[in-house]
Amino acid sequence: MLTNTIENIRNQFPFLTNKVSGKELIYFDSAATSQRPQSVISAINEWNSFANANVHRAVHHLSACATDNYESGREAIRKFVNASKREEIIFTSGTTASINLLANTIGGVLLKEGEAVLITEAEHHSNIVPWQILTQRIGAKLIYLPVDESGQWDMEQLDTLFESENIKFVSAAHISNVLGLVNPIERLIQTAHKYGAKVHIDGAQGIVHQEVDVKKIDCDFYSFSGHKIYAATGIGVLYGKESLLDILPPWMAGGDMVDTVTFYKTTYAKLPLKFEAGTPNFIGGATFTPALEFARSVRCHQVEQNERMMKDFLIKELTSIEGLEIYGMGENKSPVYSFSIDGIHHSDIAMLLDQMGIAVRSGLMCAEPLINKFGKTGLVRVSLAPYNTLQECEIFIDALNRAIRMLR
Ligand SMILES: Cc1ncc(COP(=O)(O)O)c(C=O)c1O
Repeated sequence: MLTNTIENIRNQFPFLTNKVSGKELIYFDSAATSQRPQSVISAINEWNSFANANVHRAVHHLSACATDNYESGREAIRKFVNASKREEIIFTSGTTASINLLANTIGGVLLKEGEAVLITEAEHHSNIVPWQILTQRIGAKLIYLPVDESGQWDMEQLDTLFESENIKFVSAAHISNVLGLVNPIERLIQTAHKYGAKVHIDGAQGIVHQEVDVKKIDCDFYSFSGHKIYAATGIGVLYGKESLLDILPPWMAGGDMVDTVTFYKTTYAKLPLKFEAGTPNFIGGATFTPALEFARSVRCHQVEQNERMMKDFLIKELTSIEGLEIYGMGENKSPVYSFSIDGIHHSDIAMLLDQMGIAVRSGLMCAEPLINKFGKTGLVRVSLAPYNTLQECEIFIDALNRAIRMLR
């Protein structure tokens, strides 16, 4: 039954039939980008072939069809995250663009000179650098919530930080791309709100592994990328509470985000178009419909069971390798395993695994400050998806042991 379900999932992914170095591919890099099921690939081909007309503009039939497809993608997202209204779903080009949109619009509105932004030590560069630029530009402060040696947020410091600093905006990852830990975002949000701060959650990894109900968690903003959740690349989402999006100024300007334009003055379109200047990635946006249908279909007992089996096996095997350290341990772990091995360079491991047909990520993983905090110059990361199997994990552990023997 379990094998059938996973086999059935695998059969939907043509990418997995690839061979690398003459070997059957084992794709363990889904946290960087997930593969796309055939339903998404077929939809992209179909829309590129027969529905490639610009959206929100012409009255002709095909423009109306393209607009419907694009807006259906928005509706699929709204339902998936349980937002109240389509106006709260802004299309961007990805998580990075969503965070940059916020960092370029909250200054002077939700964050003023002398106030502070709180992030954590376990953020992706996309959730660090935009806040550095913003705080430096407007004379605000950037503060970090520490993580402990196992990668968990140090929640004991949270209240102290809010009491001692004038924090007005918080931005933190739902799940770190390095540690794979599901962070206590609800507690963070409640605490921030108690002190009058607004909260953005970087859901690039979180949306993939957790059910997200933006009303229940009560975040003010939540962002994610299409390409990590089976949709097209070059498209992403910023969810925001309507009352907040309404008071933020537009950032990118151009077609589609306007109501009327005269030579000297412009009035802006209503949400969500106020933040969607220019021709959007309308085919990408439409792919959220089949992609999220697929994502929903894999939130089932068999997939959970498969994930648990792979997790138990990998943790047991990895921790028994001499000199290997896993970063990010706890009950709240999603299937992302980053590790270092004493005396062996992360790139050498990744290169040897690649020659054995296994794709893993290595290096700083766009989280240089965190990896430096652990005293490392890079890590190897294995990240799994519902299309991975226990058998692949077994092959991987054999290959890893072989690579270590070659390098020691
Ligand atoms: C936690 C996290 N935040 C942000 C990003 C940036 O996503 P994108 O490159 O799709 O904009 C990533 C990508 O790996 C991520 O894992």
